[in-house]
Amino acid sequence: MILEQNNSTIKKFRELLNAGLNQDHSYKLLNELIEEIKLHDQMYFNNDSPIISDAEYDELKRLFIDCASTYPKFYETANYIDNVGAHPSEKFAKVFHSVPMLSLSNIFKSSELLDFTNRINKFLSISNNSNIEFIAEPKIDGLSASLKYMDGKLIVASTRGDGIQGENVTQNILTLLGIPRLITHSDFPSVFEIRGEVYMCHDDFFKLNEKMILDGKPPYVNPRNTASGSLRQLDPEITRSRNLRFFAYAWGEVSSLPFNTHYEMIEAFKRWGFDTNPYTKICNSTEDLLQAYNDLNTNRSNLNYDIDGVVYKVNSLTLQDRLGYIARAPRWAIAHKFPAEKAISKILDIEIQVGRTGSLTPVAKLEPVTIGGVVVRNATLHNEGFISGIASNGELIREGIDIRISDTVTVIRAGDVIPRILDVDIKLRNENAKKFIFPSVCPICGSPAVREITTTNGKEGSIRRCTGGLLCESQILSKLELFVSRNAFDIDGFGKKTMNIFYQEGFVKKPDDIFTLKQRQKNNHINILSLEGWGELSLENLFSSIDEKRLISLDRFIYSLGIRYVGENNAKIIASHYIDVDSFIRHMEKLGEDDRIIFDDISDIDGIGTVVVLSLKEFFGEKSNLQIVKNLLQMLDITKSKSIISKESAIFGLKIVFTGTLKRMSRAEAKSRAESLGAKVLSTITSKVDILVSGEEAGSKEKKAIDLGVRIVNEDDWYDLISE
Ligand code: IVH
Repeated sequence: MILEQNNSTIKKFRELLNAGLNQDHSYKLLNELIEEIKLHDQMYFNNDSPIISDAEYDELKRLFIDCASTYPKFYETANYIDNVGAHPSEKFAKVFHSVPMLSLSNIFKSSELLDFTNRINKFLSISNNSNIEFIAEPKIDGLSASLKYMDGKLIVASTRGDGIQGENVTQNILTLLGIPRLITHSDFPSVFEIRGEVYMCHDDFFKLNEKMILDGKPPYVNPRNTASGSLRQLDPEITRSRNLRFFAYAWGEVSSLPFNTHYEMIEAFKRWGFDTNPYTKICNSTEDLLQAYNDLNTNRSNLNYDIDGVVYKVNSLTLQDRLGYIARAPRWAIAHKFPAEKAISKILDIEIQVGRTGSLTPVAKLEPVTIGGVVVRNATLHNEGFISGIASNGELIREGIDIRISDTVTVIRAGDVIPRILDVDIKLRNENAKKFIFPSVCPICGSPAVREITTTNGKEGSIRRCTGGLLCESQILSKLELFVSRNAFDIDGFGKKTMNIFYQEGFVKKPDDIFTLKQRQKNNHINILSLEGWGELSLENLFSSIDEKRLISLDRFIYSLGIRYVGENNAKIIASHYIDVDSFIRHMEKLGEDDRIIFDDISDIDGIGTVVVLSLKEFFGEKSNLQIVKNLLQMLDITKSKSIISKESAIFGLKIVFTGTLKRMSRAEAKSRAESLGAKVLSTITSKVDILVSGEEAGSKEKKAIDLGVRIVNEDDWYDLISE
C-alpha cells in the first residue's frame, strides 16, 4: 500500500511523474494509485474509519489529477472517475434541492424594519409589546451553496442554481476551508443539509489580481463574481488555488433539528467544524437590531470580505415554522441592505448601446474611479429623459439639470446593480460643455429610433427604441447572447466574442442555427476551423457543450426566447401554467393568431399582466419567430415544468374559504398554509368552493355554504387536514 509509508511514498510517486513515465510504467503506477484511493474511499465513506488525514487524501487526489492530465488517454479509459477529480461532464450534473433554496426580501430603510416586525406579530396574532427574539447576522456577498451530509459524510454539494436545481460542485467544495468532510459528533443528525455562503477574502482577491496583471491578463471585477467563477471550475485544483471560504448560516433537508433556536443551530455548526460568522448576534428589540446594523455598517470596511447588509431572522425555530414562506422568501427573515457606495468622477464620453428589445441606452464612459474596492469605468445614464433632466411624465429630474460630456458627477454602485450616475455638479461644469443631443436613429442599423407611446397614459415613453427589429444587428446579437447565457441554455464556450464572430461569419444568424452547427460543419457547409483560434479539440468541445444542452426545462426555454417582459420569473409562471411544451406552443400559436379566448386565459394566470400577454402575442404573431421556435422543438428535448408545491397534500388543488375567528392561527397564517399546500383561498362562497373552514362566530358565509352544499369543516378538522 503506497500510503503505509505515507508522505515519502507520495513524494516518490510525484518524482516519478515529474521525470516522465513511459506508457506501460505509467499505466501500472496509475492503477496502483487508483487502488489506493479506492481503499481510502472505502475506509472513509463505508467504514467510517479513515486511516489517513484529509491532507494526505487531498494530496493523493491531487496526484491522480496531475497524472490524469499528463496521461489523458489513461484518464478516459480509467473506470474510476466518480470520486476522484470528477469527470468534467459529470461535475456539473444537476442536483435537485429537495427543500428549495429561497432568497430573502430586502429592506433599505430603518423605518421598514418596524413593518417587518409588525407583520410578524400580526401573522402570529401576538401583541406588539411582547418581544420576539431575533438574530442579526452579516449578509455575506458571495454565492450560496448546499452541502448534504448522510450519516456524517459529505455526499453532495451544490450551488443554488435557480433555487430548485443547482449544479453538482462536490469535488470543488471539498477544496474549501471551513468544511468538514466527516462529522462524527453524536448530535449531528443522520441527514443534514448545511447551507451557507461561499466567498473570497479581499487578500486573496487582490493577490489573484496582481498575478493576473503580471500574466498580462485582465483583472477580475469583484470578489463575489470571482468566487462564483472559481467554484464552477472544471478542475478542482483551480478552485483550491483560489482559497475560497464558507460561512454556514442555514439548512435545507434535515432528518431532525437537534435545537430549538437559530442561534443554537449556528453554535452547533461551529462545534461540528464549520466556519460561522463571528458577528452573529441575538437581539431582543428593534433597537438592538438597528444597533447591530449600524455597528456592521461602520465596521464593514475593516472586514476582509464583502458584506452587503444585515440579515434579521426570528430566533425560535417553532415560530420560523409557523411563519413559513411568502412567494420565494421566508416571512421570518429579511435582509436590511447597506446604502450604495458613491464616488465622484468625470464623464469622458457618452456611448449609446442598443439592447435586445431595441432600447437605446446611454452609457457614461468615466474617468476610472474605485467604489467599494471595484474600479468603475462605465455607468448607465438610463435613457434620453434622464440625460435631459425631464422624465416622460414631465417631472423634473435633478431639478431639470441636464448631463453633458466633461461634467463632474456622483456615481453610485450597489451590489449587483450596474453603476449609475446619481447627480451632476453644475458648479464644476466646463463652460464649453454642450448639451448632449440624443440620436434619433439607431447607431447600429440606422433605422429611426422613436419614443413609443405608453399604452397606460397615452404619453411618449422615456425610452427611445430602434425600429429596425430583426434588421438591427445589435438586437439580434443580444438576443443570441441571451439565448446561450447562464440562465437560459447555458452553453459553455459560447461567450459574447464567439457569438459575435459566428454571427459576422454567417454561421449563426438565429437561435436554431446553433443546433445545426455540427451537421453543417460535417457537411462542409461552413468551416469553423478556418477561424483563428479554433482547432479540432475546441470545436469538439463546443459541439459537445451544445449537445449537452439539447435537454432543457420549459421555463428556461421560454426565458431563452428573449421575449420582451418575459424574464426568468414570468417564464417560470408561464411554464408552470402550461406544464408541457406542446400545450405551451399550441396556446401561443393561437394567441399569435389573435384568439380572444386564449388571450383572456393567459391574462388570468396569476402574476401575468396584460403587457406580458401583449408582448407574447406580438412575438408569436410574427411568423419568423414561430418558425424558429418550431425548428428548435425539432432539435430539443424540453422537459415538463416542476411544480414547487407538493401534490400529495389533502387539500392540493381545492378552493377554500375561511370564515369566523380561528383560535390557533391568524387568518393570514391559515391562508398561507393552505396556499403552500396547493390550495386556492377565495373570499366568497360559490358552488365552486370545495371547503369552508368555519371558525367561531361564523356568519352568513356558513349559511350560504349549507345552502350550496359546500363541505364545512371546523377549526380542528382543518388542523387534521393540513397535518395529514
Ligand atoms: S439566509 C431562506 N443568511 O443572501 C433564506 N442568506 O438574498 C436563506 N446570504 O441566497 C438565506 N448571507 O446567498 C441568509 N446570513 C445570511 C446570508 C444570506 C448571505 C445570501 C444567500 C441568499 C441571499 C438572499
